[in-house]
Amino acid sequence: MKKSFQQYRTHLCHELGLKDVGQKVSLCGWVQSKRDHGGLLFVDLRDREGVTQVVFHPDKDPVLFASAKQIKDEFVIKVVGVVVERPAGTKNAAIPTGEIELEAENLEILNPSLPLPFNLDESIENEELRLSFRFLDLRRKKLLNSLKLRHQVTYVVREYLTSKGFLEIETPILSKSTPEGARDFLVPSRLSPGKFYALPQAPQQYKQLLMVAGIDKYFQIARCFRDEDLRSDRQPEFTQIDIEASFVVVDDILQWVEEMIQQIFSKVLGIELSLPFARITYKQALDLYGSDKPDLRIAWQIQDVGEVFENTEFKIFREVLARGGVIKALNAKQASPVVGPTGIAELEELAKSMGAKGLAYIRIEDKEWKSPIVKFFSMEERKKLENVLGIEPADLILFSAGPWDQACQVLGKVRLQLAEMTRSVPSNEWKFVWVTDFPLFEYSPLEQKWNSVHHPFTRPCQEDIGKLDSGRYDEIRALAYDIVLNGVELGGGSIRIHEKELQEKIFSILGIDKERQKLLFGHLLKAFQYGAPPHGGIALGLDRFVMLLSGAETIRDVIAFPKNRHGVDLLTQSPSEVDFQQLKELHIKLAFPSLDSRLRQEPEIEP
Ligand code: AMO
Ligand code: AMP
Repeated sequence: MKKSFQQYRTHLCHELGLKDVGQKVSLCGWVQSKRDHGGLLFVDLRDREGVTQVVFHPDKDPVLFASAKQIKDEFVIKVVGVVVERPAGTKNAAIPTGEIELEAENLEILNPSLPLPFNLDESIENEELRLSFRFLDLRRKKLLNSLKLRHQVTYVVREYLTSKGFLEIETPILSKSTPEGARDFLVPSRLSPGKFYALPQAPQQYKQLLMVAGIDKYFQIARCFRDEDLRSDRQPEFTQIDIEASFVVVDDILQWVEEMIQQIFSKVLGIELSLPFARITYKQALDLYGSDKPDLRIAWQIQDVGEVFENTEFKIFREVLARGGVIKALNAKQASPVVGPTGIAELEELAKSMGAKGLAYIRIEDKEWKSPIVKFFSMEERKKLENVLGIEPADLILFSAGPWDQACQVLGKVRLQLAEMTRSVPSNEWKFVWVTDFPLFEYSPLEQKWNSVHHPFTRPCQEDIGKLDSGRYDEIRALAYDIVLNGVELGGGSIRIHEKELQEKIFSILGIDKERQKLLFGHLLKAFQYGAPPHGGIALGLDRFVMLLSGAETIRDVIAFPKNRHGVDLLTQSPSEVDFQQLKELHIKLAFPSLDSRLRQEPEIEP
C-alpha cells in the first residue's frame, strides 16, 4: 500500500538504499546530530531502527534552509524529500543507509527538545543520572538493543512452549502472604479493613493449583516481587519464565528447558548449542568447584588431599582431620608469577572473611616450593602431593582445611577471585550445567530451625522419604535442580509434593504447626484432597538470562524501568508519600507522620 505524505512517514530510518533513489519519501525521528559543511546542512535522523542522513541545500529553498538551521539535537522532526545517491567518497559503509541521503524538500518540527543532560553516544558512568532520565537513557543503542533482545527471547519462549502444548495463563498479582523465603511486599485492602494482599514472590502455589485443575502444561512470563536487599543481579520486581507440568519426571523438565534454551541461542544469537547440558550433583559441585553455581568456564578443580596428609606432622591439618574435617586443595595452574605475595594476602583475607582460619599456599618457582608450611611435610607427602595435584613450575597451590562445606566454599570463592586476577575466564564461552540432588533442608543456627533449601513444596527423593521420620533431615535429598550459566544461577525447580499428608509432614519439620498450616496453606492442602496429579516445574530468571546474553553487567540494563540499589525508581521518585485521605481509606495510620507538609494530615479527632 502506498502511503501519502499526509501521513507521518513512508519509511523507517534504516530502510532506504540505492533501490529507492529518485523516490519521494517521508521520514520521522529524532535529530541525532546536525553538521554544517561549507553551507550544506547535514542532519542524521534517527528512529528505533536506524539512521538516515538528510541534506539541506541553502540555494534550493532558502526558507526551508532557514528553518533547518533552527533544529537542534533530539528535536523530533518530519522530513519529506527525495532519495539521492551520495557523491563518491562520501558513502558510509558502516550503516545500511550509507549509500544514500535524503534531499529535504519539506521540514516540520514536531517537537523541540531541551539540551540533554548527558550525551547519548557515550557510555555514562553516572547511573543515578541515567535512571532519573530513563526515557533518554533508553534512546541509547546499548539499552535499546537489550530491550529488543529481551523481546526476541520471550518471543521464542512463547513459540517453543506453545509448540509443546503449554498454555500461557496469568495468575494474580494481588495474592496471599505465605512464608516462602524472601520478605513479601504487602498491599492493604480497602474493602477488608486490617487485611493485606501480598505481591507474589513467584506464582508457585497458583501454578500447582493449575495442575490440580487439570491444565497439564502451564507457562507464564511472570512478574515476581521480593523485598530483598538488592544486588547487581537482584531487583525487587523481576520476571520469571515460569513453567509447570503434570505427570512428569525430572528428565522431562530438563529436556524441555534445554531445548528451549537451544532454540533461543539459535534463533536469537545464531549460536548452536549441543545438548544435553552437563549435570552434576550438589555434592560434586561443592567438592569440585566449591559452589552450587559453578562457573565451568574456569578449568581449575578443587581436590581432596586428605589422604596425602592422613599421618601428617603438620599440626593444623592433623587437627582438622582428627575433628572429621577435610583438607581441600586448588592447583591454580601457572598462576604463581601473576599473583605474587600481595595477591595471596588478598586471597587469605577473603578466606578469613568466610570464617576460615587461614589459607595455606605453595608457590612453585622453577622447581622450588615457596611456602610457610612445606617444612612440615615429609618427603613422602611432598611426592604424593606432587602426583595428586600434578604440580609443575609456576603453579600456585592453595589449601583450605576445615569442615567440608566451609573448606569447599572458601576454595570456591578463591577459585573465582584467582580467575579474575589471572584473567582466565574466557568471555565468549557458554557453559551450562544442571546441579541436581540438592539437600531438601538446611539448618539455620540463627533461627535454630530447619528451612527448605528451595521451597516447602519440593519433593524429597523417593529413597530418602523414610528419613523424614528418623530426624536425619540433613541427609534427605530433594528432587530439585538448578540451571547455571557461566556461574550464574539462571533458574531452579523441582518435582513437587502432591499428597496432603507428605506436605503436612514437611510443613511440620519446617516448624509450621497445624493451625498455621491451615491459615497459610489451607487452599493447597484442600486442593491436594481432590485428585492432585504428580507434577513438577521450574522458573528461569528472565532478567538474568537476558543480562548474560547481552553481556550487560547488571540486570538493571535489561529492564526498561528498574529500581536503584535502594529500591527507588529515580524517574518517578517512587516509593513516595501518599495523601492522608488515601491512607484513611485504607484504615492506615502512620507511626511516623508524613514529612511532606502538603500531605500532612489534619489533626485527627479520635472517636
Ligand atoms: P527461585 O526462587 O529459585 O525459584 O527463582 C527462580 C529464578 O528467578 C531468578 N530470581 C531473580 N532475578 C532477579 N531478581 C531477583 N530478586 C530474583 N530472585 C530470583 C533467578 C532464580 O534462579 N517458584 C520457584 C521455581 C520453581 O520451583 O518452579 C522459584 O521462584 O534466576
Ligand atoms: P600459622 O601457623 O597459623 O601461621 O599458619 C600457617 C599457614 O597455614 C598460614 O599460611 C595460614 O594461612 C595457614 N592456615 C591456618 N589455618 C588454616 C586452615 N584451616 N586451612 C588452610 N590453611 C590454614
